[in-house]
Amino acid sequence: MKMRQTMTHSDKDRVIIFDTTLRDGEQSPGATMTHEEKLEIAGLLDDMGVDVIEAGFPIASEGDFRAVSEIARLSRNSVICGLARANFGDIDRCWEAVKHAAQPRIHTFIGTSELHRTIPNLTMDEMAERIHDTVTHARNLCDNVQWSPMDATRTEEDFLCRTVEIAIKAGATTINIPDTVGYTAPRESADLIRMLINKVPGADQVIFATHCHNDLGMATANSLAAVEGGARQIECTINGLGERAGNTALEEVVMALKVRGDIMPYATGIDTTKIMNISRRVAAVSGFAVQFNKAIVGKNAFAHESGIHQDGMLKNAETFEIMRPADVGLSETNIVMGKHSGRAALRSKLENLGFELGDNQLKDVFVRFKELADRKKEIFDDDLVALMRTSVDPETVRLKVKSLRVVCGTDGPQEAALTMVIDGVEASTTATGDGPVDATFNAVKDLFDHNARLQLYQVHAVTEGTDAQATVSVRLEEDGRIVTGQSADTDTVVASAKAYVSALNRLLVRRETPEIGYDTKGVNYKDVS
Ligand code: KIV
Ligand code: ZN
Repeated sequence: MKMRQTMTHSDKDRVIIFDTTLRDGEQSPGATMTHEEKLEIAGLLDDMGVDVIEAGFPIASEGDFRAVSEIARLSRNSVICGLARANFGDIDRCWEAVKHAAQPRIHTFIGTSELHRTIPNLTMDEMAERIHDTVTHARNLCDNVQWSPMDATRTEEDFLCRTVEIAIKAGATTINIPDTVGYTAPRESADLIRMLINKVPGADQVIFATHCHNDLGMATANSLAAVEGGARQIECTINGLGERAGNTALEEVVMALKVRGDIMPYATGIDTTKIMNISRRVAAVSGFAVQFNKAIVGKNAFAHESGIHQDGMLKNAETFEIMRPADVGLSETNIVMGKHSGRAALRSKLENLGFELGDNQLKDVFVRFKELADRKKEIFDDDLVALMRTSVDPETVRLKVKSLRVVCGTDGPQEAALTMVIDGVEASTTATGDGPVDATFNAVKDLFDHNARLQLYQVHAVTEGTDAQATVSVRLEEDGRIVTGQSADTDTVVASAKAYVSALNRLLVRRETPEIGYDTKGVNYKDVS
């Protein structure tokens, strides 16, 4: 797999997959992952054959630095990349983190469009000099340097060519062309890369990359078009996670190249059978559920419910399917589990769904599985995924819901009687509210006073039927820190209480992680000096 880094320009048909779930994806408000979660996702990315993992933004915080350093140390096949603004401090810090990898990369960037140039207040000449100095500095530290002109798709063509040429001369080995605001369209995306390759001296010495955001829903199309134009690296995230409408979805570009190899003869090194598992894990740890009709990884992507479809599918699966569920790691059997299923069966089923469990984790999940089986006759794959998604690390749990009783009715305010365990001490209260969930949340606030603002409250039914579990996501914001908690239960109000408390537990962990430099969720582009 070392060929990933040493790939030469003659490998015309190989497209490098650069995953930025842990950097651009994690930058999405509310998608914060814990240190352990980041390591787990990096391990899965490495396992599935991702060529380059952008593991974080080391200058952003102690936490980011630690995560990038450890991911670098643990990396096996992937190149490990860190992000740095166009200043020596960022680049040095990035190198300190990625240097532990067998194959490190520094990725440095600066906004080159007219709008972005005004932020650090640099003239074109000053910016050109800055690019030369910073890329040279990065290259003196590391053989593998990626440079990005942020907002490239809105940068004046001449200036873009000039800056790309400077970066190449200064030693950049990959030139990434970001569509930062998701503004470009497929033909333009291809033309831009083609123009750069044709016009910029030295362009044949480097790999061109495409980095698209999905504001107009064109990220996948734009990335594939860029490949047609000559790009040989696609930057993407699992589930399309990312700020605003997200980034290009890894699973979409990879499966498009695989399924339509007839008209797009480009290969990736991705083991596509690992897609579903990592998609579920990223949804679980980021708190960003995958929309049901999302291409490739949505719950309905392979479901055929209409009568005509089912009839056709029974006769020949190819009637309506252009890829097999197994190609993306979706098990075709949905074996139902129930209260008589044992621990070994649960372990094997979870392994089948892509979850590797240690003995302690299995013990915890088995207890919760039995509790669920007492309330729900049939436990489907999706129920187990929801159980796994809502597993919590006992070390980070300071608040717990012990019991909840809610009185509902058509007349009058609803009332919630709640008992919680807070730092080992039991406390109870009764609160009213406008509906059972509001009453419950008021009771939580009563017992654990805080100023966090509720940003999002979302409920999904996991399976069909009136005994279906509900998965609830709660996003809270406090002093710029955004966290998401999730829980699942056959009782929607109980799931809501637990999701709220889970978000508070995450907030308590975040309060203890000081951020240095700047807010990790909003790059301070001004500070490039
Ligand atoms: O979208 C963007 O421009 C980026 C850069 C930092 C590469 O994420
Ligand atoms: Zn981006």
